[in-house]
Amino acid sequence: MISGSLFLCFLLVALAVANDVGLNYFPHVDAATWESKYGPYPFKTYRSSNVTSPAVRKAVDSPQCYDDNHIFLSPRGFRVPNPAVTILDNHGHLIWSHHVKGQAYNLKVQEYKGEKVLTYWVGDDAVGGHGEGYFYVLNSKYQEIARIRGVNNLRADLHELTITPDGTALVTFYQIYPLHHPGLFRITDTVYIWDCLFQEFDIASQKLIFEWRASEHHELNESYALMGTDGLSLDHPYDWYHINSVQKDDLGNYLVSARFTSTITYIDGRTGDIIWVLGGKRNSFSDLSNGQATNMQYQHLARFVPLTTFPSLMANEIADHGKHTRKDGFTKQLLTLFDNGIPPRPARGLVLELTYPNQGVSTNAPLTAKLVKAYEHPLHIDSVSQGSLQIVHSNLTQHSDPHVLLGFGWQGTWTEYLADGTLLCDSRIVVEKGLQSPGKGYVQSYSVLKYPWKATPYYPPVAVPSSDKTSVFVSWNGATDVFAWQLSILINEQWQPHRKALKDDFETELYLPTDLGRDLVRYVLVEALDENGKVLGKTEVVDLWARGLVSRITQMAPLGSGFGSWVGLVVVLAVVAFIADRVIKSRRSGRAYQKLRRH
Ligand SMILES: *[C@@H]1O[C@H](CO)[C@@H](O)[C@H](O)[C@H]1NC(C)=O
Ligand SMILES: *[C@@H]1O[C@H](CO)[C@@H](O)[C@H](O)[C@H]1NC(C)=O
Ligand SMILES: *[C@@H]1O[C@H](CO)[C@@H](O)[C@H](O)[C@H]1NC(C)=O
Repeated sequence: MISGSLFLCFLLVALAVANDVGLNYFPHVDAATWESKYGPYPFKTYRSSNVTSPAVRKAVDSPQCYDDNHIFLSPRGFRVPNPAVTILDNHGHLIWSHHVKGQAYNLKVQEYKGEKVLTYWVGDDAVGGHGEGYFYVLNSKYQEIARIRGVNNLRADLHELTITPDGTALVTFYQIYPLHHPGLFRITDTVYIWDCLFQEFDIASQKLIFEWRASEHHELNESYALMGTDGLSLDHPYDWYHINSVQKDDLGNYLVSARFTSTITYIDGRTGDIIWVLGGKRNSFSDLSNGQATNMQYQHLARFVPLTTFPSLMANEIADHGKHTRKDGFTKQLLTLFDNGIPPRPARGLVLELTYPNQGVSTNAPLTAKLVKAYEHPLHIDSVSQGSLQIVHSNLTQHSDPHVLLGFGWQGTWTEYLADGTLLCDSRIVVEKGLQSPGKGYVQSYSVLKYPWKATPYYPPVAVPSSDKTSVFVSWNGATDVFAWQLSILINEQWQPHRKALKDDFETELYLPTDLGRDLVRYVLVEALDENGKVLGKTEVVDLWARGLVSRITQMAPLGSGFGSWVGLVVVLAVVAFIADRVIKSRRSGRAYQKLRRH
């Protein structure tokens, strides 16, 4: 009975939380319908594939966001039944989805051994806001070519994997670590912390190049995380630092962002010593913007970029300092980050200008930080965790400043801006109710990033007949270059091309001829054509006379379809029976009823 009730609850929840928008969904579906009809996470299903994809609502849209990049995200969250790494095109149409066992984070395009690769993290993120798992590296056929964890068998944390031009990896790690710290607790001199490390190592040989441990360089009292009784025992380590990004610069030094100290720390790449700290309790910088350049909280993805990244926005500074980052003993460059903020302060994307003396130059001149631009979501939402800021170069921005793209992490939305702060686009995969402060985390994506990506999968496209066998549905999960589909029919033992259709979404329906007679049309196949008509791949032969299931959808059948309403009816009946059962029992026992109500 208990497992039966649990199962029913599960089914109920599964049906209530997420909803299929159907096959005819279009991203510009009217907002009221999108917001109210499909649950907190509207998603799409397909006939020819069992993957699902978020149904994107474009609350603000502009042709200036439709560039030669694709969009890379990893939808997960309380209302996402099946986490996946996902690539969308600019229209929000699915290009690739890969459901994972566990949680998915941090989908990026990087370069490894001279080729463009996809990298993403999969693992267990239930260990307290960080993760234990692996980074996967896939080539442009979607074959796994590497699986990355740390040197000394450390399991990779989810926050950072950067592959450097030298073929090394920068990865973050979390480790339970005892610190000798008398005076913190009365009964013991030891405090157990979640210590944070990063390593740089050669991916192929696993040779360690550099390792840095936060507790050797930062003090526990720099943390803003409440300690309570955390740290007293091994089972409840104190999560004091929470490293979340690492970048290596051209001098071989490292830039590290940490959540719970709200600091961005610049680290000597030979000694590990701290060169300076931006933000937090140990800030080294004078703030030229009334505190707005050093007050980041819980920030993510800190990256140095040169002034020349924004030739127009930074024109005066470039004229003044020149095109090089270091001049006359001083470094001047930009730092970009996603500042999560703490409500009521909304999340912001920040571009800061930093000026500081070069290493080894002795001077009394202050280190200075200046706010260049802050970018907010049009709803001024906060984001308790995760998030990304990316500078987007595309074919639309070549002769002007690049765009700025924010992914709101905990909140399933991303926004794109002109460098001057003008909002261009606001795309959402969660309803507005879920975004209101404090954000609900219904649909999250660690980051939302844009890259050019060209891929042809190692597996073939898939075609399945419609249930009445008057058409076939075809898709090719991950293929970026399909322009059109060509249906061919086997007639008199000859393959005869029949109908061509342009690919306009992840899945395309091709109608079968009506004039040939059903007896003749038994075997069909579909070829994928590129823009020049070249065949990129073809499906297996589909036997239209075959019996059995025609749909590959094995999960989350759309509500409102025959199956959905049938399940719905069963669930409703079962729930009525369940409640009746409880009510009858509760009449017998008042306590049981109280319990049910409290639940
Ligand atoms: C989808 O189908 C593939 C192969 O057809 C299978 O390996 C995978 O487990 C299925 N996934 C789900 C979520 O049903
Ligand atoms: C940029 O690329 C996109 C996608 O390939 C294309 O639709 C658009 O026309 C291009 N724009 C320019 C200005 O070349
Ligand atoms: C943290 O403790 C150290 C001594 O261990 C002290 O020097 C420092 O001022 C303290 N910092 C803060 C922010 O309290």
